[in-house]
Amino acid sequence: MGNVTVIGAQWGDEGKGKVIDWLADRADVVVRFQGGNNAGHTIVVGNTEYRFSLLPSGVAQGKLSVIGNGVVVDPWSLMAEIARVRGQGLTITPEVLVLADTAALVLPLHRDLDAAREARAGAGKIGTTGRGIGPAYEDKVGRRAIRFCDLADETALEFKIERLLAHHQPLRHGLDLPEITADEILEQLREVAPQVAPFIQPAWRVLDAAQKANRQILFEGAQAVMLDVDHGTYPYVTSSNTVAGQAAAGAGVGPSAAGYVLGIVKAYTTRVGEGPFPSELHDETGEKLGQRGAEFGTVTGRKRRCGWFDAVLVRQSVAVSGVNGVVLTKLDVLDGFETLKICVGYRLGDEVLDYLPAGMREQAAVIPIYEEIEGWNGITHKARSWRDLPAAAVKYVRRIEELIGAQIALVTTSPEREDIIMMRDPFRG
Ligand code: GDP
Ligand code: IMO
Ligand code: MG
Repeated sequence: MGNVTVIGAQWGDEGKGKVIDWLADRADVVVRFQGGNNAGHTIVVGNTEYRFSLLPSGVAQGKLSVIGNGVVVDPWSLMAEIARVRGQGLTITPEVLVLADTAALVLPLHRDLDAAREARAGAGKIGTTGRGIGPAYEDKVGRRAIRFCDLADETALEFKIERLLAHHQPLRHGLDLPEITADEILEQLREVAPQVAPFIQPAWRVLDAAQKANRQILFEGAQAVMLDVDHGTYPYVTSSNTVAGQAAAGAGVGPSAAGYVLGIVKAYTTRVGEGPFPSELHDETGEKLGQRGAEFGTVTGRKRRCGWFDAVLVRQSVAVSGVNGVVLTKLDVLDGFETLKICVGYRLGDEVLDYLPAGMREQAAVIPIYEEIEGWNGITHKARSWRDLPAAAVKYVRRIEELIGAQIALVTTSPEREDIIMMRDPFRG
């Protein structure tokens, strides 16, 4: 059996958490490789609902879970999440959780900056999750970040805080944010350091050993390809690479370790925050999708924008991320729709496009070309076998498969862990 890399192929919230949890049963290690607590991955097991933002979804199955170097970690948020899921009965010890010593931290000053910029941007805002993710990645690339390994070395920490403040103080001044002192930050970090210390390790060594012992590794992506800082709907994106190619760099393994790339795709489309969304519905059909699909953000509680399935976008995500197979999620949400539409191309002025162009104004201007497809009367909700699907639902799934150019390996039919139909085993490629 090989490794599997799970990524979102639309604008996030496709149901990655549920799929990872289901696959984790047969994995030995689950690794997050990018993003931070902007992610919200929901897992439902019986009457219990787990919501993970930083913890890899493997912790629900008690699997060794690694927060890789590519993740930006808010240590206070992490400790609060650990306390919350411990309260739900999960065991989180250094035996099951590893924090990469080279992961960069998200500090309160990053959240301040995120909020201040969004507040000032007016109509130009991104609609971020407000978690400080963008500013934290900026500091990482700007070589000013504080990393987990610095917490045990006060001299390094003091030096780094000075360096960080030399950058942030003028920014804060310009944004009318109060000055902060190095002592304040040092105090905050001194308090949290002993709480996170037991989990900190060179994560690449843990993964190297796992590979040498032929362990199955599951790479857990957050966000999605259309939110990728290079390949997404820039500037309405997150600040990390979310494509499968990031799994290797963000975990500290070679590119071949990524294995089978599984793209998670919702049976319709949603997006949270600002930015282009060609197949968005502003009518009661959009409302109905949102209500049936309970489309409210896991992290911020914001209402998700809803629209028809966009095959053009997903085909593009499949290409730029090297998706080998797809999980089509939330098919049950479409139960009872008389007709469904799939976006199969875009019109831009006189032109017909089979891809989303890069320019911000072009992305906002494309008009979807739809294909209509018959809905179904029967129910797919909670179906666990292909045979249980109404014929029209099978036709919808097959049409999507044809349009996106990737095989559909699994279909999910409810939030519950076991409600899933497997056509192809991702671990066997
Ligand atoms: P993620 O960010 O990709 O992990 O997705 P989220 O957890 O943010 O959002 C997906 C939501 O859909 C969660 O509330 C899941 O419990 C739910 N969900 C996942 N799969 C299905 C499905 O097949 N059917 C339905 N109705 N809900 C699902
Ligand atoms: P999961 O992993 C959906 C969106 C935000 C905003 C943009 C930038 O649960 O699928 P950021 O805070 O990252 O700077 O915000 O990205 N966004 C998500 N949307 N699901 C997510 O994660 C998201 N993480 C960030 O809404 O539009
Ligand atoms: Mg989510």
